[in-house]
Formats: sequence, C-alpha cells, structure tokens
Amino acid sequence: MNAAYPITDHYHDVVVVGAGGAGLRATLGMTAAGLKTACVTKVYPTRSHTVAAQGGVAAALGNVDEDTWENHMYDTIKGSDWLGDQDAIEYMCRNAIPAVIELEHMGVPFSRLDNGKIYQRPFGGHTINQGEKMARRACAAADSTGHAILHTLYQQCLKHNADFYVEYFALDLLMDDDGACRGLLALCMEDGTLHRFNAHQTVIATGGYGRVYFSCTSAHTCTGDGNAMALRAGLPLQDMEFVQFHPTGIYGAGCLITEGARGEGGYLTNSAGERFMERYAPNAKDLASRDVVSRSMTLEVNEGRGVGAENDHIYLHLEHLGAETLKKRLPGISETARIFAGVDVTKEPIPVQPTVHYNMGGIPTNYHGEVLRPTASNPDAVCPGLMAIGEAACVSVHGANRLGCNSLLDIVVFGRGAAHRAAATIQPNMTHRKPLESATDKALARFDATRHAKGGTKVGDLRLGMQKIMQRNCAVFRSTQILQEGVDKMGGIIGGLSDISVSDRSLIWNSDLIEALELENLVSQAVVTLHSANARKESRGAHSHEDFPERDDQNWMKHTVCWWDGGAKTRLDYRPVHMYTLSNETPVIPPQVRKY
Ligand code: FUM
Repeated sequence: MNAAYPITDHYHDVVVVGAGGAGLRATLGMTAAGLKTACVTKVYPTRSHTVAAQGGVAAALGNVDEDTWENHMYDTIKGSDWLGDQDAIEYMCRNAIPAVIELEHMGVPFSRLDNGKIYQRPFGGHTINQGEKMARRACAAADSTGHAILHTLYQQCLKHNADFYVEYFALDLLMDDDGACRGLLALCMEDGTLHRFNAHQTVIATGGYGRVYFSCTSAHTCTGDGNAMALRAGLPLQDMEFVQFHPTGIYGAGCLITEGARGEGGYLTNSAGERFMERYAPNAKDLASRDVVSRSMTLEVNEGRGVGAENDHIYLHLEHLGAETLKKRLPGISETARIFAGVDVTKEPIPVQPTVHYNMGGIPTNYHGEVLRPTASNPDAVCPGLMAIGEAACVSVHGANRLGCNSLLDIVVFGRGAAHRAAATIQPNMTHRKPLESATDKALARFDATRHAKGGTKVGDLRLGMQKIMQRNCAVFRSTQILQEGVDKMGGIIGGLSDISVSDRSLIWNSDLIEALELENLVSQAVVTLHSANARKESRGAHSHEDFPERDDQNWMKHTVCWWDGGAKTRLDYRPVHMYTLSNETPVIPPQVRKY
C-alpha cells in the first residue's frame, strides 16, 4: 500500500455514491431492509441536484382524468423515439403508482386538488389513449417537486439511521481480478483523509454530466463522477449521444423554467408574436415532447424569427394566467424569472432558449439497477457487485428523448428497485473479502498524479474549452462536419489534461484539486458523447443529424455502447433494444411515425 496515504477501512453491506433522489431512495430502502448501508456524497444531501427539479413526478394516478400505466408506457416509448427498452419502461410505468403513493405516505407535501387528492398537471408528451387528448399525469408540489421529495427522503433516511459520509469525493471504484466491484476509494474533503469503503454491492447514483456544456440547467456539481469511474473501470457508457435540451432555460442565465409553466397554459411566441408551435405540433402544440419543441425554437431563431436585440431567443408567456394562479402553482419560477431575467411574469414574457438539461445516456443497467458489461455473446451480461441508478444510469427507459417528469420517477422507481434487489441478493453482515491493495494502488496513483500536476494549463481554461466545443459541436442540430470538428478539437482537450496545474498541494478543502478531478471526469464523458454522436448516422429523439434527417430503424434501432481508456480513440459497439415486455399480457409497441 502507498505509505504516503494512510487509509481508513469501512465495511458495509452496500455503499451508495450520491445523495440525490436516487441515492437517497436506495439508501432508505436498503437500510430499512436491514442492510448496513453507507451513503457517500460530495455535497450535503439536500444540496443534491434533485432539489432543482420543478414540475412534477409522472404517475398515472388518474386523479383528474381517467389514466392508466399503459397510457404512460405508450407515451414513454413514443417519447424515447423507440430507443427505450420496453421491459424497463413497463416496469417503471407500472411501479410509478405505488412509488408515488409511498412518497405521499412518507410525507412529501404534494399540492392538492379540492377533493384532497394529489394535484396533477399536463406535461409535454403525456396523453390519454395514444394521443387522443393531453393527460394530467404530473404529480406536483407547486413548482418545487424535487425539493419536496429530496427533503422527505433525507428525513426518512435519518429516521432509519442510515450512515452518511458527507462531503466525501469518490475517487475510483475498486474492481477485483474476477471483474466484480468490491467498493470504492474516497477522499474526505473536510480533513483530507482517505477512506476505503468495502461493500458487497456498490451503487452509483451520481447524477448527470450537464457541466460538460457551457450553458445548462445543471448544478456545478453535475460532473458525472460515477460515469467516469465506470469508464476507468473498463465498463462502457451507453447512448451518450442523446443529450436533452430543455426548451425553456432563461436566456443567458440557463436557469430552468419548468415545463409545468406550459402545462398550466403558458405558450411560446416568435418575433411576429406567432404561437409557432401550432405549425410544428398541431395537436400537442407547446406540450409536444422536448426534443420537438427545442428543435422548433431553434429553427425559428435560425430562420430569423427570434426575439430580442440579437433575434436569438424566444418568449414564454405566462401573463394571461393571472397573478393568483402564478402565485399558487408557479411561485418558484416567478421568483427565478424576476431574479435572473428581471421579468415580472404577471406582466411580461420570459426570454428563453433551449438549454442542456438531461443525459439520457449513462451506465447501462437492467431494470434491477445491475450494471451491464456487454460481451459479444451476451449483451445483457451483469458486472457483479455494481449497480447504477438515476441519471447516471441508462436503464434504458428514456431512449433517445426523456419525457418531462419521468426523471423524478426514474430516481424513485429504480432507487426503490435497487433496494429490493439488494435485499433479495445480500444477507446482512456477510463476510467481506480482504481489501484490494492492487485496486487501491491504482486509484491512488491517479489521485497522486493529479494532485501533483505541475503543467502550464489552468483547469478552468481547459474546462471552458471543453464546454465551448460541446456547446458548438454537439448541440440541438448536428452534422457530419460539425461533429467531426468536435471530435478533432476534443483531442486537443484530452492532450491538455496532461498539462494541467494544481497549485494547492494540501488535501484539506482543496477546491483546486477537486476541480481538476472533476475536469478529468467531465472530459471522459465529453469524449464518449462526441464519438457516439459522430457514429450515429440517423436522426432520432435528441440526436438531430442534418445529413441524416430521418430515423433509420433498420440500421440504427440499437443502443450505442462506448468504451474509453484515456487514449485518442474510443471503442464503439451496439446492443439490441429490448423489444419485449415483462409478460405476454403487455403488448410490445412497434415503431411508428412520431408526430405530436
Ligand atoms: O420542466 C421541468 O419541470 C422539468 C422536469 C423534468 O425534467 O422532468
């Protein structure tokens, strides 16, 4: 062992990395099942990015209009542009109902209908009977649903005495010679000590990597640390080319204005004052799925119909909803619009533009949350001892485009499912294998190299370079030329990693070091995203390729899997989409033309 770094060993049945909604729901379920569970998190749990989720969590409760989980399943498959795995989508939509009722019983302060039931609002792509009319399926706590869920889950975890390791930065997974994961190595940022978490099951719940882009709705902490650890462990990431642009980020600032604003009756206009979504999506209009609305907005701007001094954005109108509704249903975004756009939403429209919001891609898993290590003979082979849930994972329930409110749903359903699986497969207090010195040494070597980096490039400069490339070369619309340019330029960023400087040598509260480690994590995902996008020669969901404008089911209805070992090249392969359901009683939804 590296004598320079004394290491404290911890022994748990399960270690969960990340304390957003997915991590907390898993930690709660595992602890409640009697498993000794550690939750390791780089931020205080209630600061996790789930806190920023606004509009709701999808579940076909049917509190307003009759609704069914089958309607929800159809909409999700159509939203995914037929790239979602139908067994996993069935699992999510069926389990949405008990998962949300459980949240209600745990104390989530949902808004209420007059009859006392959970309030439900319309959201993009949520329909009844395959598009017959818009559904009301988004279960909302005003426009702070993520905040309400996160705080409730954290309180429940505390009630069940879960073990939290707060402000610990996960450095790397500890992989055994037999390919199994045995835990992870982490740095306690408060005092600079190193900690090895030995566990029978490690659960990655570290969220998305929105910060590879220049403008995004994601918190600065969204650096995809778990995805990067998976890549370094020799595992692939799946469908990384599918990055969701939310139609209504505040122009310039990037802050989220919930789709719930359009669910409550808000609408978009161009410079002619036209409600242009009526042309692009005659039925769903402003509540078409996000990829459709973001593309339409971008086309309006590109064709010279943008608003503002530079004609480069769009207006979102809420004035007509009235002060009372805005105060009751959308108080949070009313404040955000005032602070970040200087707009009084009762009087003026909000300037908005499509902004990076969500990663459909991530660590491939099955619907139990078990991480896949696909091989030529078995595309669904499992990596023992490792799970991934939430935005870090690609189950794949979102396919090429996620529907609004299916992310809060994803985290609670698959956090809960991972807990069920762990409880079924792990006996409390089973004996641990001896800590792995070779895996620990490997993690430490990387840590040491970064910590002592003495190059000439500032971390912030290299990060900005990466973000600008992603923003320009992997945006709403892509082309062969622009993607190839992005791949080439990202090569320069990879090269730059060996020239970074970390001037602060201490281990305590060293933001210089943490930012360098996060940058390495971000770059790995930027590389995989660009390479995966460059290879996909079709348009599907959020991947809109100008040289291949049609969806090509014959050649491309398959998941991308991409490995990267830090060099100039990636390795790409493909897995079949699961065109089967959990039981014979649930029909498969065959591919159709996708119109809203
Ligand atoms: O618009 C929103 O409130 C975001 C919801 C989501 O991404 O699911």
